This record gives sequence, C-alpha cells and structure tokens, in this order.
Amino acid sequence: MNLVIFGPPGSGKGTQAKLLQEKQAWPQLSTGDMLRAAIAAGTELGKKCQSIMAKGELVPDDVVVGIIGERYDQPDCEKGAIFDGFPRTIPQARSLDSMLKLRNKKIDLVIELKVDDKVLIDRVKTRIAQSGGVARADDNPETLQNRLAVYYQNTAPLLEFYKRQGKLTTVDGMAPIEAVTKAIAVVIEKAAKG
Ligand code: AP5
Ligand code: MG
Repeated sequence: MNLVIFGPPGSGKGTQAKLLQEKQAWPQLSTGDMLRAAIAAGTELGKKCQSIMAKGELVPDDVVVGIIGERYDQPDCEKGAIFDGFPRTIPQARSLDSMLKLRNKKIDLVIELKVDDKVLIDRVKTRIAQSGGVARADDNPETLQNRLAVYYQNTAPLLEFYKRQGKLTTVDGMAPIEAVTKAIAVVIEKAAKG
C-alpha cells in the first residue's frame, strides 16, 4: 500500500510513520529526514536546502520530487511506502500521482493527523527542551510560526485535492500516541479490505 501521512509540523507524522514501518512492509519516506541527512553530509543538495529549511520555507518542488523518485525506486518500496512530509504542494502531489502511475501504482490512502495549533506549538517547545541544546535548526518558536503559516498556505489545500480523489481519512492526532497508532491501524485495515 502507498500511504501518505499528512499533517502540520509537529502533528506526529514522523512518530506514526516510524511505528507503522516497524509493523508493515512499507518503509517511511520522509523528505525532511532525507534533506537533513543531505545537510549533515554536506552534499550540494544539502547546501542548497540548509538556509531554506532553517527559515521554515519549502525547498523547491523539483528537488523533493527528484529525491522521492530516486528513493521510491529502491527495492524495499516494492510493496509500497509511507510518505511522510511529502507531498506538501499541489504540484508535488500531481508529480507523485504521475510518478506512481508510470509504475502502475497509486496512492491508496491519505491519513490526516488533525492537531490544534496551540498543541503543535507546545509539542515543539517540549522537543526543544528535550533536545539537550541540539534542537533542529527549524525547531524554535519563530520558525515554527512560519512553518505553520507555510502549511496553511501551501500544504493544507492538498486536503481538498485528496478528498476529491476519495482518499482522505482524518484521525484525531491529539489523542495519545498509542491511540493514534490504533486509529491508523483501523483505517489501513478498512482500506485494505477495499
Ligand atoms: P519535516 O521534517 O517534514 O518537518 P515538519 O512537517 O515541519 O514537522 P515535524 O517533523 O517537526 O513534525 P511531525 O509531524 O513529523 O511530528 P513528530 O512525529 O516529529 O520538514 C522540515 C523542513 O524540510 C520543511 O520545513 C521544509 O523546509 C523541508 N521539506 C520537507 N519536506 C518537504 C517537501 N515535501 N517540500 C518542500 N520542502 C520540504 O512529533 C512532534 C513532537 O510531538 C515529538 O516530540 C513527538 O514525540 C510528539 N508527539 C507526536 N505524537 C504525539 C501525540 N499523539 N501526543 C503527544 N505528543 C506527540
Ligand atoms: Mg517529521
């Protein structure tokens, strides 16, 4: 199954994608993690994206579409993948649909984690406090505000895009982590039955 875990910054996409990856045969494809790895490795791609990410802006569509396309062609994605933090714009979603179509695949399901802004801000504050001084470059209250604004401006319109395709299910992302995991499992089971 090809699945998108969708939601604003701090909604739990990475947390849930990792748990799901342990249970299912689908790897977590996180564009944020891939870009942070490129920055850490000091690659050309990393250098290009570093300041954009530190500001909480989106890196260009062709960059993320390129890295996702390459990653998806690895053998571990044969049974499907969990897209985490991608797509984030309508053009990215269209590119993803075309890329999968070329491979006779499709997005089967989009799960939105719905979380109030105030809770998102509190979660990131907690993550900064727990980071022991090595917080992510974009994990500070000012950049988070911008990441949220960018989410509502560029990414939230995808909810309508996937709703129209009949693929969207919304889960309460404010429930405890284990409860969210259970709710996602129920949605996947239902989708797998068709
Ligand atoms: P990305 O890495 O995708 O970050 P993000 O979406 O902004 O947000 P996070 O990863 O912080 O949140 P999350 O939803 O994964 O939540 P998490 O599980 O960590 O992107 C970073 C940047 O890269 C972007 O700003 C952009 O510049 C660039 N980028 C990436 N993809 C791109 C794309 N496709 N196009 C263009 N640019 C792109 O959880 C957050 C915290 O909450 C954790 O501490 C966790 O323990 C806690 N938590 C999780 N669930 C719960 C729960 N149910 N209850 C209580 N606490 C919880
Ligand atoms: Mg994440």
